[in-house]
Amino acid sequence: MNETTMSKNTKTSESIAEPVLHQTAKVMQKYGTRFRVPLGLEDKVCEASISDLNRVLADTITLRDLYKKCHWQTSGATFYQLHLLFDKHYNEQSALVDLIAERIQLLGGISVAMAKDVAELSHIEPVPTGREEVPAQISRLAAAHEVIFKFVRKAAKRAAEGEDDGTNDLLVSNVIRTNELQTWFITEHLVSLSPTEVYHDVAPSKSHSSTIPKH
Ligand SMILES: [Fe+2]
Repeated sequence: MNETTMSKNTKTSESIAEPVLHQTAKVMQKYGTRFRVPLGLEDKVCEASISDLNRVLADTITLRDLYKKCHWQTSGATFYQLHLLFDKHYNEQSALVDLIAERIQLLGGISVAMAKDVAELSHIEPVPTGREEVPAQISRLAAAHEVIFKFVRKAAKRAAEGEDDGTNDLLVSNVIRTNELQTWFITEHLVSLSPTEVYHDVAPSKSHSSTIPKH
């Protein structure tokens, strides 16, 4: 051990419990780069999967945050039901975010993480900061889901062609299946049926019918 190393590692009993703050270092891996992981996959396949997964990640983070916005800002007669449903979907999208981000790291890449970088990468239409009515909220969510479907189906096919079965499985079993179910749950709220009056009127059966006399 040389003199410099010794002085760096020497701590007094008073200073050993003190947190060492404000430490800085060079970035150890730049965004957009990849290190090789022994997964038995071709380099170009890993690179394509990392790139596709980062796009899906950016869209999924955006959709997750859109669900939280809708959870806070929803209104009207279905407030409580939608308030809970939007938060359930937020939590499910959060779980997807973690799965996607960790797969990117597993493949030797860097996951996009912070809001500014996510906004640059996401293809979901920018959302107004203000509050929207429920049908507009739901339509916006459905459109965001569709942006994800269109890209993820292509990305899943690409991963399957490159034998990256893990990425394909994640995109199909987790991302597509979760998004399909959520789309069903929200779009049913856009059917304009009254909870108190039938839309398709049917003639009442004779046994129960009564005619209101006309005056
Ligand atoms: Fe909440």
